[in-house]
Amino acid sequence: MMRIIGTGSCLPLNVVTNDDLSKIMDTSDEWISSRTGIKERRLAKEETTASMAAEASQKALKNAGVGADEIDLIIVGTITGDYVTPSTSCEVQAKLGAANAVAFDVNAACSGFMFALHTAYVYLQSGIYKTALIVGAETLSKIMDWNDRSTCVLFGDGAGAAVVRTYADGESGEREMEGRGRGGLLAFTQGSDGAKGSVLACRDRVNNNPLIQNPYELGYVSMDGQEVYKFAVSTVPSSIIKVLEMSQLKTEDIKYFVLHQANIRIIQSVAKRLKVSEDKFPLSLDHCGNISAASVPILLDEMNQKGMLRPGDKIVMSGFGAGLTWGTAVIEW
Ligand code: ACO
Repeated sequence: MMRIIGTGSCLPLNVVTNDDLSKIMDTSDEWISSRTGIKERRLAKEETTASMAAEASQKALKNAGVGADEIDLIIVGTITGDYVTPSTSCEVQAKLGAANAVAFDVNAACSGFMFALHTAYVYLQSGIYKTALIVGAETLSKIMDWNDRSTCVLFGDGAGAAVVRTYADGESGEREMEGRGRGGLLAFTQGSDGAKGSVLACRDRVNNNPLIQNPYELGYVSMDGQEVYKFAVSTVPSSIIKVLEMSQLKTEDIKYFVLHQANIRIIQSVAKRLKVSEDKFPLSLDHCGNISAASVPILLDEMNQKGMLRPGDKIVMSGFGAGLTWGTAVIEW
């Protein structure tokens, strides 16, 4: 069984409030907070995707009581790596000195952490690896069109990480497992709908080969907000119902629903469709904004640090976004 045994997160130091944004563009705290629930976000100055990923990872390792040399696998979910190559995962490996790990990134936007978690699960359950470091890290501010107020106000920068480890039946793993039930990752589902990719997209650099002489243009995030909203409020509840059925649990059995922090209205709609109190949906979007792959692990770490997670608690985690992609899991803490 694979368990999350430690979490960590890192936010840039620079806080940018809605009022700060209203000084540089035609927007207001009222417009942003009433439609999204976002009050402020952190935007990187000195920090990079890899530096935040490494800091979140170091905290997660410390929280787990695991040394960097014990990590077999590092997977970073990101769409905003500092380099096209090497991968952010390889940069994290170097920064941690995790010389025994194999490292690669996954590109699944706001589902990136969930896809990384599920990929690690398959490796760990098969017995190939024992301990993995899973990270979601983004510097979304660098791919925003800062002249497009309808997108740039929504996003922030940061990183979250989790250490996961497998335990065979009968294996004690006393140090990490003390006082905890049999738990672990109970069920997951994930999906992709590439045919709807254009509703939320960011083009990479174009081919600047002088022989074909394309004009060079930078890509920025573009979004059809209403289509994304419709996708999220239908796909997320059905994926949650699916993992609950797979694990033979009911919504009443779930202590928290840890959703990607895109927008308060999406979260409220998911709660309503599931007939679950909004109190069971913790939030970080008010102070973080939408940090794509980093949203779920940052929120999970905040909950862990606040002591909200108790042994035996059942928690649903769900990421959804560009691709389109979605990934949902139910875990026992
Ligand atoms: N400040 C002030 N006015 C703005 C701003 C802004 N930052 N942005 C847009 N407006 C204006 C528009 O220009 C438009 O004005 P007009 O009516 O004069 O033309 C008006 O506000 C309404 O614009 P809409 O785009 O229709 O705004 P909408 O009410 O749909 O809200 C939002 C936009 C919040 C993005 C909404 O579509 C939504 O909730 N979408 C869900 C998707 C989402 O949250 N995406 C986040 C990232 S995706 C992900 O992580 C999965």
